[in-house]
Amino acid sequence: MGNVIILGAQWGDEGKGKIVDLFSERFDIVARYQGGHNAGHTVLINGRQFVLKLIPSGILRPGKKAVIGNGLVIDPAALLSEIDALKSAGIAVDGNLFISNRAHVLFPVHRMMEKMSEGRPGRVSIGTTSRGIGPCYEDKTGRRGIRIADLLDTQVFRAQYDSVMEEKVTIAKALGIFDALDLRQTRDEYEAFADRIRPMVCDTALLLNSALREGQTILFEGAQGTMLDIDHGTYPFVTSSSASAGGACTGTGVPPTLIGGIIGVSKAYITRVGGGPFPTEALDGAGEMIRHRGNEFGAVTGRPRRCGWFDVPLLRYAATINGFDSLVVTKLDVLDEFDNIPVCVAYRAGKQEVTEMPPTVAGIVGVEAVYECIPGWRSQTFGITSYDELPARAKDYLAFLEDRTGVEIGCISTGPERAQTIVRTGSRFEKLMA
Ligand code: GDP
Ligand code: IMO
Ligand code: MG
Repeated sequence: MGNVIILGAQWGDEGKGKIVDLFSERFDIVARYQGGHNAGHTVLINGRQFVLKLIPSGILRPGKKAVIGNGLVIDPAALLSEIDALKSAGIAVDGNLFISNRAHVLFPVHRMMEKMSEGRPGRVSIGTTSRGIGPCYEDKTGRRGIRIADLLDTQVFRAQYDSVMEEKVTIAKALGIFDALDLRQTRDEYEAFADRIRPMVCDTALLLNSALREGQTILFEGAQGTMLDIDHGTYPFVTSSSASAGGACTGTGVPPTLIGGIIGVSKAYITRVGGGPFPTEALDGAGEMIRHRGNEFGAVTGRPRRCGWFDVPLLRYAATINGFDSLVVTKLDVLDEFDNIPVCVAYRAGKQEVTEMPPTVAGIVGVEAVYECIPGWRSQTFGITSYDELPARAKDYLAFLEDRTGVEIGCISTGPERAQTIVRTGSRFEKLMA
């Protein structure tokens, strides 16, 4: 068995957390490679719910190493409160969690900048999670970011912080939001955070590569999803990091030659949180029914998720970008009550079929989804653990998706609990996870 990337094939919230938690048992290390506490991965274990934001879901498996790679942006306050919550739930964190010294540090000023930019009159807001993720990545790319290694060196940190904040103050004054900044207090708080996280910080690229040389295996946990990727997603309605498979290497320092498999996670339908184009959005009662049955409310912000139908052209695009070996289809049970299930099989603009994912918002808004209606199974799949026990029409639905997307469906999730999962015998998925 090699190293495997598990990532979202849609706009996030596909159920990556559940799948990573379930299969992390078979790996030595679980590593996150991008994003920050904008992610919300809900894992249900014997009725106990855990919501992971910055920390890889592997932390829930005793004895597994969980790594926060260099590709993340870390709000230390959010990280420490997540650690405290896990500890009070009886999860062993010390000795199991490793944080990259090259990850970037997120400051309150990033949230403030984002609030200002999202709320600016005349701007179409992205509908972000308001965590300051975008502005922190802006500082990273602008080569003025402060990294965890800098934070740990008080002298270096003070000098960097004061210099970076000088620039922020100029901007904040110009924008009339200067009063809200308490720079000195924040600096003191961050110095205190540094002392708490210090024992967990190391060069995680070295840690991962030396573990690999010893024959250990890594499961890479994506956050967000392919269509929220900064390069390949529905720009500008995306997040600010590389959520697709390529990000796993840049975000951890593990070379591409050591990746053994790539698994996409998709819902049996599709959702998105925040603004942006959505060709298969169901704005009628069916969308409401999906939201209700799937409990489609954001784990981070509580916002209702926009719901719609499975989008084949989008999935094919995601498969191309990521090179999926296999697909996990989650939340099949949410569709149990539908008489008919529309599946978008193509995009059309006027009389022309659109075969490629349009690169612009206007291009995506301009396409019309062409649907084929698949008969629903109208019986319970919730909790089914064997493929043979699925209703014939549910199997037909999955076969249709497999045929149209060109990607094997190697695993099906029928409920939030670990056990409510089907692995297809003889699939590439089974081989990758064996
Ligand atoms: P992630 O961000 O990709 O990890 O996904 P989220 O955790 O944000 O959202 C997925 C939600 O669906 C969580 O509340 C899961 O507990 C839940 N879930 C995962 N798989 C299934 C499934 O097969 N059926 C049902 N009904 N719920 C599921
Ligand atoms: P997980 O890992 C769903 C969305 C936001 C917004 C856009 C940009 O749980 O799948 P940001 O705060 O990142 O700058 O917001 O991206 N978004 C997510 N949507 N699941 C997520 O994470 C998301 N993380 C960000 O709603 O539209
Ligand atoms: Mg989520």
